[in-house]
Amino acid sequence: MNANQLRDKYLEFFKSKGHVIIPSASLVPKDDPSVLFNTAGMQPLVPYLSGQPHPLGKRLVNIQKCLRTVDFENIGDNTHHTFFQMLGNWSLGDYFKKEAITWSFEFLTGKKWLNIPLKMLAFTVYEGDKNVPRDAESYELWKSLGVPAERIAFLGKDNFWIAGESGPCGPSTEMFYWTGDGNLPVKFDPHDNRWVEIWNDVFMQYSKGKDGSITPLKQRNVDTGMGFERTLAVLSGKKSAYETDLFQPIIKKMEQLSGKKYKDHQREMRIVADHIRAATFILGDGNAVVPSNLDRGYVLRRLIRRAVRYAKQIGLPDNSLPSLAELVVTDYGDYYTELKKNKQRITEELQKEEEKFEKTLEKGLKEFEKMAAQGDISGKEAFLLFQSYGFPLEMTEELADEKKVKVGAQEFLAEFQKHQELSRKGAEQKFKGGLADLSTETVRLHTATHLLNEALRKVIDPKIKQRGSNITPERLRFDFSFDRKLTLEEIKKVEGEVNRVIQKHLPVVCKEMTKEQAVKIGAEMEFGQKYPDKVTVYFVGDYSKEFCGGPHVKNTKEVGKFKIIKEEACSAGVRRIKAVVEEQK
Ligand code: ALA
Repeated sequence: MNANQLRDKYLEFFKSKGHVIIPSASLVPKDDPSVLFNTAGMQPLVPYLSGQPHPLGKRLVNIQKCLRTVDFENIGDNTHHTFFQMLGNWSLGDYFKKEAITWSFEFLTGKKWLNIPLKMLAFTVYEGDKNVPRDAESYELWKSLGVPAERIAFLGKDNFWIAGESGPCGPSTEMFYWTGDGNLPVKFDPHDNRWVEIWNDVFMQYSKGKDGSITPLKQRNVDTGMGFERTLAVLSGKKSAYETDLFQPIIKKMEQLSGKKYKDHQREMRIVADHIRAATFILGDGNAVVPSNLDRGYVLRRLIRRAVRYAKQIGLPDNSLPSLAELVVTDYGDYYTELKKNKQRITEELQKEEEKFEKTLEKGLKEFEKMAAQGDISGKEAFLLFQSYGFPLEMTEELADEKKVKVGAQEFLAEFQKHQELSRKGAEQKFKGGLADLSTETVRLHTATHLLNEALRKVIDPKIKQRGSNITPERLRFDFSFDRKLTLEEIKKVEGEVNRVIQKHLPVVCKEMTKEQAVKIGAEMEFGQKYPDKVTVYFVGDYSKEFCGGPHVKNTKEVGKFKIIKEEACSAGVRRIKAVVEEQK
């Protein structure tokens, strides 16, 4: 089986069960301050899992671009990838355990579908805790389909799924495939890693608050996620996805460029292939970021620089990375057309970053050797490596690990924070990859963003277009096309306009319609975004209308007093405004 066949089968199967295929959302979430990248198929669907009606109905299916940096140290093994694709199907308050489990079983074992012999499979279900009962129903459902009892295990927290710390969650049941050699075990041992998890069905019926409380959700949902890379590997009888058509072209190219063999440099070649694929998808995304020392840009920089380091170890010539990325574009670009569209940006940015780091890498390594010869690396030394030679902390830690010395990471972070004015808490939270913050502050700022967008056009220039937006509970950030600095007077005018509209106590209403209709009525859409055929449009009275997934306040009076705190250049022809809302006195 190849990658296209697996993807097509999955989509076709769930389509035949009444699901609507939705496009993969952007890898870089726009209005979600708490995550750097999409980490699961459900993430862009949080508003709908929380009760808002989805314009395409209650049964959805897709393949979603995901990126998880928490597994960084596992990259190079058989089953983890920084960038990966998740096949997922959802019930938004529609079917529940019985259908989800029966269909998972049918897709895995059905002749027309994956046709996996039942003896290769095993299952886990939730054993329960003080808030949530043991999932006897899922256990019985698997058994009723013919799964022997010794192939079903009850587990604790691994079978309670939540993205991050709070938000929609629930017990899950996971499906495992036997990848070991020799005799198949009769009894399933979930701690034996030759059983590889390929699919997870989450029965999302609770919401976890920031205080840890568990309350029932408005509706009971199903959220499933099948690891595309892993599943393809096991179905092809390969140890890992690196040996499938997903990675082989890029590995072959590395062999050719370096004259070395994959079998002798397996880990290094896997890391380079994984990181270049991830970097290509980040740089090729509709909401692309470029390498920098902050947040998403920093994740990207770490990936590229780590790839450069391993490329050198393999013996790849300088400037090899862009040619590897080109292969990713060729291999994935038919399905993810954004890669083809943004090919130039991808190769240019990679080249720039590779050249920059190649200049300092060797000197930095020498400096590191000297430091390590003296013993542990202090945070200050690690920071010097970062500042003078561009070594991300993780790279210094990895090098230190190889030398069996330690790194003062806390001290490094303190130095880093001092220099970057980066709130450590904020950074740590983001690196964990939690869920969308749906606090009232965020919701108020979200509506304020729509008003600002419209006000800029009304009082400054009707040609202004949104180019980006980012909201944290503290402030909104709004990027828009405009080619000069706004005057103080203009800023006051925009602020006054937004506050005038807030004072009108306009209702905020959400309507579902086709994309065509939305375009026809002139709803604002963001340049470069991909929208499905059916969309939701938010109307603020008759003042503004925008394509948007929400959530928003019900009435502008809830927004509070709007204040612009900064107006600055963002990039060529794009300005950036930061603004806050204050409680109305
Ligand atoms: N959201 C679930 C997961 O990522 C399906 O495993």
